[in-house]
Amino acid sequence: MRTTTADIRTKKTRGERFAAITAYDVVTARLADEAGVPLILVGDSLGMVVLGYDTTIPVSLEDILHHTRAVVRGSSRALIVADLPFMTYQTSAERALENAGRCLQEGGAQAVKLEGGRAMADTVSRLRSAGVPVMGHIGLTPQSVHQLGGFKAQGKDLARARELLDDAVALQEAGAFSIVLECIPADLAKRITARLSIPTIGIGAGPHCDAEIQVVSDVLGWFSDFVPKHAKQYAKLADAAAEALRTYVREVGEGAFPTEKESIALSEDVLRELDEGDG
Ligand code: KIV
Repeated sequence: MRTTTADIRTKKTRGERFAAITAYDVVTARLADEAGVPLILVGDSLGMVVLGYDTTIPVSLEDILHHTRAVVRGSSRALIVADLPFMTYQTSAERALENAGRCLQEGGAQAVKLEGGRAMADTVSRLRSAGVPVMGHIGLTPQSVHQLGGFKAQGKDLARARELLDDAVALQEAGAFSIVLECIPADLAKRITARLSIPTIGIGAGPHCDAEIQVVSDVLGWFSDFVPKHAKQYAKLADAAAEALRTYVREVGEGAFPTEKESIALSEDVLRELDEGDG
């Protein structure tokens, strides 16, 4: 039985902190699911950490659907949230509903995430009334990177801090079941968390949120050249993989791999007849 959005809300009432993570494929989803992660996000960070784009903007709904299906196949317990890509929900609530509907119907997700605060409240409310659970996302919203002037922390001045508080309240009132707070000061995240009855899920938002979400490549160290300030590497998979591949290349070159152990044997009888037939 998968975690439900109601279970996620109950965690806040019970004061139960939890870890969420992104995943984009079967293998990672299975590992996260087995590690006990209750919420997996098929984030549009996919574009940057898997597809090689500089921003999340080129990610399409088809990309998210394709990877959501893989994550659903790789997991059985976690709640799967599909990220609505840029311009699949901003133009109208009806378009948002159609695309969110596809994430549930074709992707197999149980909920969707969208970026934006008060401006998205009517859309959240429309999705919710059609039976689509919505996770909000405020602060550093990567789909607005060109508007924000880069991937910069948000809410550091009074006016912006107040705006973010109002955004969080508006999303809760519109019916969001949780809200991601990305790259905002810890004290602001603490106040938003205290104000809301739904869980706040921080990333670069300090230790006072109800939960934490991280991008899986940062946590596992898929990239050795870049670690965001808000991330902690719990493994260094890039280094381990690079070393493994160098050894593989060397061993094949030297004739040390494959050996008989990795080969398929032919029975003596077949071998003899084969050789006799040759002669
Ligand atoms: O796309 C993503 O991975 C996200 C997380 C950073 C919350 O939105």
